[in-house]
Amino acid sequence: MATAICVLSGNLSAFGVVVFKSDVNGCVTLKGEFTGLTPGKHGLHIHTFGDLTNDWISAGSHYNPNNEIHGGPQENKRHAGDLGNVDVNEDGFAKLDLAIQHFHLTGIHSVIGRTLMIHQNEDDLGKAENEESLATGNAGAGLAWGVIGICQSNISEEALEEKFNQIN
Ligand code: CU
Ligand code: ZN
Repeated sequence: MATAICVLSGNLSAFGVVVFKSDVNGCVTLKGEFTGLTPGKHGLHIHTFGDLTNDWISAGSHYNPNNEIHGGPQENKRHAGDLGNVDVNEDGFAKLDLAIQHFHLTGIHSVIGRTLMIHQNEDDLGKAENEESLATGNAGAGLAWGVIGICQSNISEEALEEKFNQIN
């Protein structure tokens, strides 16, 4: 059981807060909110490095400790960092509520210290039958990003909402 948090921002208006919680069955739940995005779907991934010296570019490629191809968040064969899409409404706002397996907050495949990133384009989940689809899902440039850090374990949804409203 572990809890992690990421605050995402970038060079544009996009902004987000995501909390990760693992349970005893090895499932991790991601809950978060985003604002300042264009309506529609935006790809979400963990990238390998927590290096933001060159904005999102120095965060490297999708976190992929098992040497798989790109895929959707509910597939067994995917980059460990593939989290699918965030669905943004007409007001540029999105809520994230995702439960995934094969994703870790502790141990050798822990994502803590790596970068969470939301992208300009929809992630095609590896289904577009081109080379880029199997590498990045054609999600395009990074819009907002942040390094995943350790969070207090008993953070409530109300506290998360409050944090989101404070920074936003
Ligand atoms: Cu990405
Ligand atoms: Zn990927």
